[in-house]
Amino acid sequence: MPNVDALTETDKVMEISGLSVSFNGTQVLDKIDLTVYHRDFIGIIGPNGGGKSTLLRAILGLITPDRGSISIMGRPQKQGRHMVSYVPQYASFDRDFPISVWEVVLMGRIGQKKGLRFSPQDKELALQALERVEMDGLKERQIGRLSGGERQRVMVARALAAKPQILLLDEPTASVDSRFEAGFYDILKELNQDITIILVSHDISAVSAYVKTIACLNQQLYYQHAKELTEEMIEHAYHCPVHLIAHGIPHRVLEPHDGVVG
Ligand SMILES: Nc1ncnc2c1ncn2[C@@H]1O[C@H](COP(=O)(O)OP(=O)(O)OP(=O)(O)O)[C@@H](O)[C@H]1O
Ligand SMILES: [Mg+2]
Repeated sequence: MPNVDALTETDKVMEISGLSVSFNGTQVLDKIDLTVYHRDFIGIIGPNGGGKSTLLRAILGLITPDRGSISIMGRPQKQGRHMVSYVPQYASFDRDFPISVWEVVLMGRIGQKKGLRFSPQDKELALQALERVEMDGLKERQIGRLSGGERQRVMVARALAAKPQILLLDEPTASVDSRFEAGFYDILKELNQDITIILVSHDISAVSAYVKTIACLNQQLYYQHAKELTEEMIEHAYHCPVHLIAHGIPHRVLEPHDGVVG
């Protein structure tokens, strides 16, 4: 396993090979191969039901694949899984759910800590995570009383409290306003200075402004560790020419990034 304190962009942090998943006989993921390098920022797009959430859940070990393997930081999935954090697609709380922002973020330490009690270090990491998303001012607030955008920031803080090497986000801006959205992506960009990010989103134009590379997923994965989103990729992924996406959007949708091999 690479030394996590001295990773470079040529170090692989995750390797997926031949991953196939089906539910009740229906194939959802078909022989997915994906190599992820340290400090990658991959945007995954694709149609509804294309298997995006399923792929993230397989990475987390929440579903058992039919075939294939996933290794994380050079270890089998089960041993590497604690280095991956996840912000799920749907995180709703009852308005009266009696748990504070602080408690939600602290729970991000479960799975990392030893023993039953939270240590001073657990609390320090939870506080740092809250500060990073600028939500430390609302730490005593009941989680159900937050706005959608505030809640998303808290869910990111919860994921960060685990000190992950890899952060998976599933449609994190689906319910937030556009003003918040830009700030949210800025936070991700800063986080990407030292952690690897995989982001699922339907919003191609927003994603393409921030991610380093784009993958299309529709049962099969189209990915070349590249900045380019070709019409061919979109057509394969969506199984039809997608005017919604293709119309008016140039062939190359991503700005060149430093240090990324195109
Ligand atoms: N636990 C499950 N049991 C049965 N079928 C499932 C299960 N989870 C997902 N599916 C099916 O697998 C397919 C892929 O679902 P998935 O949630 O991965 O799609 P997605 O790409 O995330 O879609 P969306 O863009 O709508 O979020 C869908 O047809 C879905 O109904
Ligand atoms: Mg989904």
